Amino acid sequence: MNILFVTSEAVPFSKTGGLADVAGSLPQALAANGDEVSVVLPLYAPTAQKFGGELEFLRYYYVRLAWRNLYCGVFTLRRDGVTYYFLDNEYYFKRENFYGYFDDGERFAFFSRAVVDLLEKLPQKPQVVHCNDWQSGLVPVYIRDESARSEFYRDIRTVITVHNIEYQGRCGWDAPGELLGLDPGWMHSGTLEYGGDVNILKGAMLVSDAVTAVSPTYAQQLRSAEYAHGLENVVELCADKLHGVLNGIDMVRYNPSKDTTIAKKYSFKKPEGKAECKAHLQEKMGLNVDAERPIIAMVSRLVTHKGLDLVCAMLDELMASTDAQFAILGKGDAQYEEFFAGAQARWPGRVAFYMGYSEELSLEIYSGADLFLMPSKSEPCGLSQLIAMRYGTVPIVRETGGLRDTVHAYEAPTGKGNGFSFAAYNAHDMAYVVREAVALYHDNPEAFKKIRNRGMMQDFSWKASAVKYHEIYEKICNS
Ligand code: ADP
Ligand code: GLC
Repeated sequence: MNILFVTSEAVPFSKTGGLADVAGSLPQALAANGDEVSVVLPLYAPTAQKFGGELEFLRYYYVRLAWRNLYCGVFTLRRDGVTYYFLDNEYYFKRENFYGYFDDGERFAFFSRAVVDLLEKLPQKPQVVHCNDWQSGLVPVYIRDESARSEFYRDIRTVITVHNIEYQGRCGWDAPGELLGLDPGWMHSGTLEYGGDVNILKGAMLVSDAVTAVSPTYAQQLRSAEYAHGLENVVELCADKLHGVLNGIDMVRYNPSKDTTIAKKYSFKKPEGKAECKAHLQEKMGLNVDAERPIIAMVSRLVTHKGLDLVCAMLDELMASTDAQFAILGKGDAQYEEFFAGAQARWPGRVAFYMGYSEELSLEIYSGADLFLMPSKSEPCGLSQLIAMRYGTVPIVRETGGLRDTVHAYEAPTGKGNGFSFAAYNAHDMAYVVREAVALYHDNPEAFKKIRNRGMMQDFSWKASAVKYHEIYEKICNS
């Protein structure tokens, strides 16, 4: 099948979180199974800087967005069996960050409109356009809108994957006419309207032929008000076309026995190198170099749904009651950045915080740490726990979303499990499990090693999930 995958970020070109990992590995897995896959994404300034030399300029066209007439350049690159298209408009994308601007609605409306205009210009018409999150959520809406006028769009099927329903792409009531170039009927019919605003994700879910969530548990959770951020009724309306498909990771990119970024390569058969990675991490982050002490790590966007309130509540207590060290890499909300900076000052040599985004340090942490803490309040899928397990770093997670689907708690009597987990969103429950994990690390190294090895041997690839996506594509094309 011919699939066009639309995303606002993709590894190795641009990344802020897990969406980029997905967009950087699922298309390859689909292509390996025989689909013809292209990926389209914005040409951000850092992407142009890093990959400019490899990109081939294809063409340009003008995109009509309400009253605006906007330049769009198209660059391309072929990599790992996948064709990439980068859409260039310096006014919208030549900025320091990918998101977080007052005009994000307009920026991604432009991107979505430009993707739809690109469809007729591609060498082969895609059968399925697979969109991701609100940033490309207008694509199915524009396709449906164009279908009313043009035959070309009528047989194109659309999929929207919800990576996190918290982010919905909301803008003011007058946006359809003023910003999006859509008839106000899209608001009056209720398709794009939510609470008096435009809600792009809602529109995408309602008009797409299939809606997917990034883990089976998250697909279930989305039906409840607790997790759906106001869209539970929309999810219910989509029940017949909703699928939960678990994310995979790129097992080649994340591979401690081949990774040249980490201090020393290792594998579950030859695990010795991990000790060197640990010493390197301690030295690099300013932790006391001590092989005996377990390092608990976090690599995360510092936002509320990651469960950081629990960590803030218990970090000092855990420092006092265990001998563990903490290594934290992340950026995000100021309150958490300040908290971790303060904890580092209070616990020199035992808490290390690097505020920022660093691919290199993230791999050094995954390889050097012993435990990986992810106490998320909600977690659609989570890739960090998978990467951690791949590097032999044992996850401690809250049982929610994809964390629940991928981490199975250690059971002392049987020795089964690939990590530690707790159910209630409660700081004391988290601390209890952290202490349990630290105790097992010290008191029963053999059992700890088994948990570690189980994670390292697991198949987190896209193999099974790529087949599921392909089945969804076939189903919507044949119905
Ligand atoms: P989310 O997409 O919600 O941020 P995921 O667990 O799905 O969470 O994916 C997070 C991805 O982003 C992982 O690959 C993780 O290693 C990476 N990541 C998160 N924060 C940072 C950071 N500060 N520096 C480097 N990589 C990070
Ligand atoms: C979102 C979710 C995360 C998921 C990622 C990739 O960022 O927060 O849980 O793993 O998307 O699907």
